[in-house]
Amino acid sequence: MQGVMKISKIVENMPPSGIRVFFDLVVGMKDVISLGVGEPDFVTPWHVRESAIYAIEKGYTSYTSNKGLPEFRQAISKYLKHKHGLDYDPEEEILITVGVSEGYDLALRALLNRGDEVLVPEPQYVAYGPIVELVGGKAVYIKTELSEGFKITPREIEKNCGKRTRGLVLNYPNNPTGKSYTRKELLEIARVARKHDLVIISDEIYCDLTYDFEHTSFPSLPGMRERTIYLNGFSKSFAMTGWRVGYACGPKEIIAAMNKVHQYTMLCASIISQMAAMEALKNGEQPVNEMKREYKRRREFVIARLNEIGLACHKPEGAFYAFPSIKSTGLSSMEFAQKLLKEEKVAVVPGTAFGKTCEDHVRMCYASSFENLREAMKRIERFLKRRKQKND
Ligand SMILES: Cc1ncc(COP(=O)(O)O)c(C=O)c1O
Repeated sequence: MQGVMKISKIVENMPPSGIRVFFDLVVGMKDVISLGVGEPDFVTPWHVRESAIYAIEKGYTSYTSNKGLPEFRQAISKYLKHKHGLDYDPEEEILITVGVSEGYDLALRALLNRGDEVLVPEPQYVAYGPIVELVGGKAVYIKTELSEGFKITPREIEKNCGKRTRGLVLNYPNNPTGKSYTRKELLEIARVARKHDLVIISDEIYCDLTYDFEHTSFPSLPGMRERTIYLNGFSKSFAMTGWRVGYACGPKEIIAAMNKVHQYTMLCASIISQMAAMEALKNGEQPVNEMKREYKRRREFVIARLNEIGLACHKPEGAFYAFPSIKSTGLSSMEFAQKLLKEEKVAVVPGTAFGKTCEDHVRMCYASSFENLREAMKRIERFLKRRKQKND
């Protein structure tokens, strides 16, 4: 029977996050090794935690300006200049958000009219398409190919551009594929963005976890600053998921529009989190580099082991995910994840959580201890061997 509360059709039709659906199954199970949720296994570095404690002791418990603490925005501006060659005015072009999640939501609310289309390459981070739909837009999913490194090509962008296309979501290094774009590839995307008058929503939350080449920020490309909403945050590289702090940068008109929504819905990010993140920016380079070195070491191990045990896997260039093909097992990605969990107590995310076109893959997060990874690979190997024996 329907309750008194009638749920909005948009929300009713919105699929629940494929990651969460699966992990509800894991809750309560014992001895599970989870390679599931995409979250650093490190706790936030001590100097950052200490600065938050100190902020509370000093009585920093108020709201801040909607846009965020001015000195924090200044620190971000300085950091982006130094690290990525970006020039953003801390007063008008930077907005502190409650994670990249809020920044992404605000960007779409500020940008879209009903029926406007946004191109979303698949595999996609789980929130991208649903939020486009939530704000009344239409997500146009574009399959990317393993043979092209799961990267969107200018040809595919052009093929999917129509009269209502407003923007393209880019995420690199990518969740879940770990692939990233070279400067040359980005310049090609920039060319079509100009030609079709697209806004690029560039989620670069994993940029500091790029292992094999220099990360190029999309707005640093010629002519792209004015058509990019740049999103970044502290959750991943600084191991600060629980603090809920990120930032959005862009031309002042779009940042003012985003702030208009933000001032009603969120008011501001937590002052304590802002103080902590400011400390992370100022003195965080060494711990970030240490964590990065460790993720890289784990990447080498996991990718080598996956290929050795028969799950073909490309080499991710950043973030902390492996996205092996499970095609050889003959199982759907959900079957694979469920059977692996039931038989060997290893949790991975079915590829379909990242789009309908991702059936042949599962995602494994390697932000887990080396011991866990070693044991997980052993269990997956046993699982595969057993299946092979059954099928022979
Ligand atoms: C690509 C990507 N963007 C955004 C987020 C969410 O980030 P935040 O914690 O800053 O909201 C995640 C988290 O997994 C992610 O993988």
